[in-house]
Amino acid sequence: MNVAPQDHADERERQQRWFAQLCDDLHRKHSADTDGHVATYIPELATVDPDRFAIAAVTLDGTRVAVGDVEQTFTIQSISKLLAYGLALEVHGRDRVLERVGVAPTGDRFNAIVLDDATNRAPNPMVNAGAIAIADLLSGPGVDDPVESMRAMYERYLGRRPEIDPDVWASERETGNRNRAIAYLMLSRGIIGPDVESTLDLYFAQCSVLVDVVDLATIGAIIANHGVHPVTGAQVVAREVTRDLLTIALTCGMYNYAGEWAYSVGIPAKSGVGGGIVGMLPGAGGLAAFSPRLDPIGNSVRGLRVFEELSAEFEMHLFDPDRPWHRTP
Ligand code: DON
Repeated sequence: MNVAPQDHADERERQQRWFAQLCDDLHRKHSADTDGHVATYIPELATVDPDRFAIAAVTLDGTRVAVGDVEQTFTIQSISKLLAYGLALEVHGRDRVLERVGVAPTGDRFNAIVLDDATNRAPNPMVNAGAIAIADLLSGPGVDDPVESMRAMYERYLGRRPEIDPDVWASERETGNRNRAIAYLMLSRGIIGPDVESTLDLYFAQCSVLVDVVDLATIGAIIANHGVHPVTGAQVVAREVTRDLLTIALTCGMYNYAGEWAYSVGIPAKSGVGGGIVGMLPGAGGLAAFSPRLDPIGNSVRGLRVFEELSAEFEMHLFDPDRPWHRTP
């Protein structure tokens, strides 16, 4: 069937209006949800305003939708694990990374003190053990200033020098003894090197970077776009690495909710205890939600509901046989 270019443009505009309207409606609807609790195990995170709420999308052509507290910054937390994993794959290559960190989802909590029985590896790069092993790789021999390399990575994604929240960074350092336990277990099994405190310092710093919801949607769009920034055209992360990032996000990004998420939402995604969730939809763009009240697994309650409903209404599940591939938010 031949479709005139003007018809395509009209249809695209109609879809964009529909999507923006959906985001508005979902924001209004879920503003009243007060289920869940802000994270308190990192004391500084307990000081955030629990009612903040924002939704954003960035398409592959750079079109942007943003609703709610779009300028509110929050710490990126575990969403950083995806970016750090990408950097480790770029710098060290798959084989070296796979020697220390596997790719299997776990049914355990994100901060479980558990390694693979047979190989001693951390289960996957999205749980704390895996992310700390990745931080160790990124601060290994030959790296003068690991925090600076991490900042440079963020600068490529965000288009500005990242700000690290000094209070959250300090709070994680002071209270992160569970992460210390994980790190020392990995040291005892030869998965990481002996400089545990500087490895943890890098990990805590990467988690404490401040972002807003549009930053998250932009990060999602970059990864969904084979590593190319949809606005600047810059290659932010290597094309071949994005396949691994999307796979890991789909299988492990939402922790022990990953199976349910893949089934009901079907969008590769990553969450953080700061309340952010980023979704990456190949061929379409990046989606993000921010709301600090979390469920017991550590995922944003309103964020989950927004993604579930957006995916269903806009038919975004990756494996939906009727998914309209031409459709972009
Ligand atoms: O190490 C921690 O526990 C935090 N810095 C990050 C955990 C996190 O975001 C888990 N996410 N849902």
